[in-house]
Amino acid sequence: MREIERRAVEVYRARFAVDPQVVASAPGRVNLIGEHTDYNGGFVLPCAIDRCVAVALGRGAGPLYSVEFDDAEPCAGPPTGTWVDYPRGVAWALAQTGAEVPAFQAVFTGDVPLGAGLSSSAAIEAATALALATLYELATARTELALLCQRAENQFVGLQSGIMDQYAALLCQAGSALLIDCRSLASEPVPLDLESAGLSLMVCDTHVERSLAKTGYNARRAVCERAAQQLGVAQLRDADESDLTHLAGEELRCARHILTENARVLAGAEALRQRDFAAFGRLMFASHASLRDDFVVSTPELDAFVEIARASGALGARLTGAGFGGCAIALVASVEVGALAQTVALGFAERVFQAPTCYVFSPSAGAEVVR
Ligand code: GLA
Repeated sequence: MREIERRAVEVYRARFAVDPQVVASAPGRVNLIGEHTDYNGGFVLPCAIDRCVAVALGRGAGPLYSVEFDDAEPCAGPPTGTWVDYPRGVAWALAQTGAEVPAFQAVFTGDVPLGAGLSSSAAIEAATALALATLYELATARTELALLCQRAENQFVGLQSGIMDQYAALLCQAGSALLIDCRSLASEPVPLDLESAGLSLMVCDTHVERSLAKTGYNARRAVCERAAQQLGVAQLRDADESDLTHLAGEELRCARHILTENARVLAGAEALRQRDFAAFGRLMFASHASLRDDFVVSTPELDAFVEIARASGALGARLTGAGFGGCAIALVASVEVGALAQTVALGFAERVFQAPTCYVFSPSAGAEVVR
């Protein structure tokens, strides 16, 4: 058991005066490439990070308690717009499948940076889903659990997200990124041995609150669906670049991003297999430009990070996750990480941006039951 899981157990014991029946944890993620492609039936390439949400859980009258928010809430109830919607949503989605979901009590704690676009919410969902499936002895496959978590997010929380974050939290493997076909839900680990190449994946949290995230995200999704409809295809996955001549305006820009981004994911996975990190880096820059100019989900802070990273010699850099704030990533020589972090801090101060926080994570395993 890791420190974070032990903490969940201790707090559970202190609150409920019994041992938890199940202890599980699920990681956050960064997406290496493939943004907004998941809900278009396309490809993504995330990896799980070595930060997670742990849950200690057992049958009981409740409540659900979050250590970070110091907040206790009943286990059932309507959506509230707070952290508790994620575990509640998962229990709700489980009940929707016809499963019996007797009352439970739980303690959540974690070290995934909150609200940064590193999928702390998907980590809560994945940890809850795995813990409940274990507690109620449901032989549910991990992909089914990911779909269940996505249903919680779409129908309970109200974000029309794709499957990437929940899938990554449940199925990633240590030392690898995961190439996911978001239509078939098949996936394949792609080795991500940055260390032996002397490289690191630097993550920069711009601390720009993703306040527009929900409306902006749902709006982009609606444009993609309209574009697919105009082209007479089920999803933009089914269109090709020659179809773009039939589109205009927002639909054209969004569809162009999705089509070119899908191609970049496949090329990127191949570049990683070949250990051609320079080629992968170029694809990262191209992905960022497409997200900034065509999909229009970047911010001045994310753009500044990418430009500073480029000027400092990074192999590649891009915003990661939905955009509208949150985090960007850069692929850099490990020996340059400290210097780049400093240059970014200075560059942000000059531009009168909030001070960013930089991290280096290692590609980690998906959710697990630890007890
Ligand atoms: C959020 C969503 C994902 C995905 C990304 C953008 O993280 O939860 O499903 O759409 O944005 O790639």
